[in-house]
Parts: sequence; structure tokens; C-alpha cells
Amino acid sequence: MTAVSITVNGRRYQRTVEPRLLLVHFLRDAGLTGTKIGCDTSQCGSCTVLLDGVSTKSCTTLAVQADGAAVTTIEGLADGGQLTALQEAFWSKHGLQCGFCTPGMVFAANEILRTHPNPTPEQIRHGLEGNMCRCTGYQNIVRAVQAAAADPRRAGIGGGR
Ligand code: FES
Ligand code: FES
Repeated sequence: MTAVSITVNGRRYQRTVEPRLLLVHFLRDAGLTGTKIGCDTSQCGSCTVLLDGVSTKSCTTLAVQADGAAVTTIEGLADGGQLTALQEAFWSKHGLQCGFCTPGMVFAANEILRTHPNPTPEQIRHGLEGNMCRCTGYQNIVRAVQAAAADPRRAGIGGGR
């Protein structure tokens, strides 16, 4: 067993964990079930979170690798009920249906906007390649990312809203 201290959404979690414990299980065991497990093999992206500001698949990250780091999950985004520009764009552009993929999609989209502030549709599709959605056909997700890119409030989640 190994002691870890991980700050999640601004709150520090100190736990003693098995070295093999995955970060996604660490988060979900802490009650943060917005982070989903869709495949466990790094294919679907539904487990994506921010690890020190960078989008990361938490199903292929060990909790011990996140020791001392800051993690942001979907529960940590809305500020007092105020959605981020990206969350609002997913809502207004119908970028979700069942919502299972959505937390991971939001963080993948954030990564796209972090690296391409004004992405082309091709850059958005390329950036979303690691995230699967069984419902939407992706078109409205691309529209949502475009809408967020055009939103003056958007400076990126984790670095602004
Ligand atoms: S659960 Fe992590 S990529 Fe599918
Ligand atoms: S909205 Fe259902 S999997 Fe994407």
C-alpha cells in the first residue's frame, strides 16, 4: 500500500492505495462518478480528466502517478451552478444525448482549445479521435467546440472560463 495525496477539484484527498489502483477508480471511489469507465483499454476517452491542466485518460493512469498533482473532474467545472463556456456550448448545440461520453468529451475539447484557440473542423475532429460517442454522430460535438471557441468567456477550463 502507498500513501498518496491528490488534490481533486481544489480538495485534497489523502489515501493509502494499492500501487495498481487506477486513477479513475480513485476518483469514483471518492464519489466523483462523473468520470466514466467505458472500456478500460484507453480506447473510448470517457474517463478523461485534467491532470495538472492536461487532458489525461484516467483509466490508464495509476493513482500513485497522480500523487501531488491537481486533478479536475467534470464535477469541478461549473462554478456555483454557472456552466463553463464549453459546457454551455455542449448544451446549446445539442452536443450530447445519453451523456455518457460527455465529461470526457468536454475535457478533450478543452485540450483542443488549449492547443488550437480557433480550431478548424478538421482540427476538432482530429482532436476528438481518442473519444468515442455512440449517440450523436459527432457533428453537434464539433459545432459545440466551434461555439465555445467563439465564446469570449472561453480562455480554457482550468485556465479560465
Ligand atoms: S475508460 Fe478510459 S479510455 Fe475508455
Ligand atoms: S452522448 Fe451518448 S455516448 Fe455520447
